[in-house]
Amino acid sequence: MKTVLITGCSTGFGLETARYFLARDWNVIATMRNPREDLLPPSDRLRILQLDVTNEESVAKAIALAEPIDALVNNAGVGMLNGLEGIPLDDVRALFETNLFGAMATIQAVLPQFRERKAGVIVNVSSTVTLRPLNLLQVYTASKAAMNALTECLALELAPFNIRTRIVLPGMAPETAFGQNARALMREIPEPYAEAAQQIFAAFEQRPEKITRAIDVAEAVWQAVTDPSSPMRIPAGADAVALAATA
Ligand SMILES: NC(=O)c1ccc[n+]([C@@H]2O[C@H](COP(=O)([O-])OP(=O)(O)OC[C@H]3O[C@@H](n4cnc5c(N)ncnc54)[C@H](OP(=O)(O)O)[C@@H]3O)[C@@H](O)[C@H]2O)c1
Repeated sequence: MKTVLITGCSTGFGLETARYFLARDWNVIATMRNPREDLLPPSDRLRILQLDVTNEESVAKAIALAEPIDALVNNAGVGMLNGLEGIPLDDVRALFETNLFGAMATIQAVLPQFRERKAGVIVNVSSTVTLRPLNLLQVYTASKAAMNALTECLALELAPFNIRTRIVLPGMAPETAFGQNARALMREIPEPYAEAAQQIFAAFEQRPEKITRAIDVAEAVWQAVTDPSSPMRIPAGADAVALAATA
């Protein structure tokens, strides 16, 4: 029986992906910053472990407890929308710590066992924001574009060890807590950018016809993990699929 470890399982895509793999007879290590046992159906194939991707000790401990694993899903992530002038560099660093360096830390931690067994899959959850520029989303987009580059380079580096990497690109998912969590981290928007920001927030309220649902991401991650012939970049969600077709 195969084992997947997923980061950021307390809500949204991570929680749904954990549910999806559990329902398909995988062992699931659902990791969370603040572990909760009541979010997923009880199962002897489920383990909940504490893992904060920004804390190296937490990463090392979780991976050691979880070993051996067959697939790593880097899903944990945070958003941010503001004019660059309004974002202190410490906030930029904090976002990169979670979205990029956190993923690098978990990858570094699993590679020795993957290499030794000459098997393993790493799936990084990126975003369709990387497919075209969006106003006031520069820092978040930069973190996810770097994640795409990281994943594609690692594919070459790790191929000799039979380790695969894949990128899942979700579109806009208004049903998860992502927007709310991003807003909680955001500073006041400087006045010169306030009108543009208001327009963007107003557009978010008008739910478009095509959106991404958590189940779309779970399905895309499943494809990335279980199908060696899957493409490097897998769009997840109706909006993501449409955008990827034109990008
Ligand atoms: N929603 C969208 O529109 C959208 C679109 C494209 C891509 N994405 C990407 O998809 C991923 C999941 O997003 P979502 O929509 O499911 O958002 P979400 O509901 O806000 O979930 C984010 C998850 O990441 C976790 N997390 C944040 N910081 C962490 C840390 N330092 N260590 C470990 N876990 C941490 C959160 O845990 P806590 O509960 O502890 O905060 C939460 O479980 C993110 O990488 C996001 O960038 C989202």
